[in-house]
Amino acid sequence: MADRILVIDDEKIILELTSMILRSRGFEVLTSRSAVEGLELIAREQPAVVLLDYMMPVMDGLTALKQIRERFPGTYVIMFTGKGSEEIAVELMKAGASDYILKPFNNQDLVERIAKVFKIRRIELANQELRDERERLLGEIEGWNQELERRVAEKSLELERAQMELLLSEKLSTLGHLSAGLAHEVRNPLNSISLFAQVLKQSLSSDPESCAHADKILTEVDRIDDLLIKLLDASKRSRFSPQQVDLAQLLDRVLDEFAPQLAAQKVEVERNYQAGVSVIQADPAEIKQIFTNLLANALYEMPQGGRLGVRMNKDERTVSVAVSDTGKGVPPENLGKIFDPFFTTKTKGTGFGLSVVLRIVRNYGGKITVESRKGDGTAFNVCLPLEPGADGCQ
Ligand SMILES: Nc1ncnc2c1ncn2[C@@H]1O[C@H](COP(=O)(O)OP(=O)(O)OP(=O)(O)O)[C@@H](O)[C@H]1O
Ligand SMILES: [Mg+2]
Repeated sequence: MADRILVIDDEKIILELTSMILRSRGFEVLTSRSAVEGLELIAREQPAVVLLDYMMPVMDGLTALKQIRERFPGTYVIMFTGKGSEEIAVELMKAGASDYILKPFNNQDLVERIAKVFKIRRIELANQELRDERERLLGEIEGWNQELERRVAEKSLELERAQMELLLSEKLSTLGHLSAGLAHEVRNPLNSISLFAQVLKQSLSSDPESCAHADKILTEVDRIDDLLIKLLDASKRSRFSPQQVDLAQLLDRVLDEFAPQLAAQKVEVERNYQAGVSVIQADPAEIKQIFTNLLANALYEMPQGGRLGVRMNKDERTVSVAVSDTGKGVPPENLGKIFDPFFTTKTKGTGFGLSVVLRIVRNYGGKITVESRKGDGTAFNVCLPLEPGADGCQ
């Protein structure tokens, strides 16, 4: 497209002359004999450059220049001024003219100056494009930054969670070392106490009262020993031998073992197993321990009756068992602590039950979650992969 130029001059001869010269140089030329009409033409035709006469009736060149600069800031203006008016020229440049040409002008000079203004305009337009591109790129970078920040925040959260898990497994392994050592150290003297108490009891057989005292000692020793065995169970993986375990059968067996207690406490059982076999590869003793501990906790919460829910669902890769009760629930402030070893709210509790459950579930690559609302009871959901270590429990 040819460069479009508008010439505004009240002298017809100047219009004709400049049109002729500029057209012969390949410009597209529009003309106007007044500033008012010229402004309308600019609005309509959007010429790149305007050649504007300074001395005109009605609206003079300076006023027209100011209006053009204000209304069409992208339009370049070259002023015609009479010779000997350099001061005016300075004023015009200050008002935003790109250049000025003294009248009468020389053809070559006219063309060169116009060409120069077009050149400047092209450079400025290219500059503007670069600036726009820069803005666009900055915007893009900003977008990437935000995305990056979002991902970093996401990863940090994941890391935080992983750290929490690590902390918990550290707690569990500390418990392992501690309890193994403790059990070892304590069970030996305990054994001696038991032996000597038995010897004492025999030598006191003629004195029933002292005999009863010796029996008390023996009972207490047994209690301590039980506790130590529990502690050992809680901390180490003793006899891991994976085999096919039918979960439905296993749950039924655990429930059978609790039958007398369920009846005594008038607890109703709601059993709901998804149809079909649900066999997992696992150590039956470990899996049994998970549900024995969960059921023991649930029953503890319902001394005056209630409902015990045992529900089982499965998909291609996992089996989930939910154990729920209608007890008093876990207060929100305890929810984060119940899986901690030693955490208990019971006078005779050890606080190992759930930590053992968690350790076993973790060993299989499974997951355990708890939901509890005050007064609404508690539900533990245990997800286990069909194969130990396989994923699938989210
Ligand atoms: N079903 C439940 N309803 C309400 N609170 C529960 C339930 N299960 C566990 N808790 C809370 O979690 C605590 C820890 O349970 P965990 O089984 O680890 O130990 P414990 O039952 O106190 O002791 P232990 O299992 O050695 O007899 C309990 O003391 C109790 O406060
Ligand atoms: Mg318990």
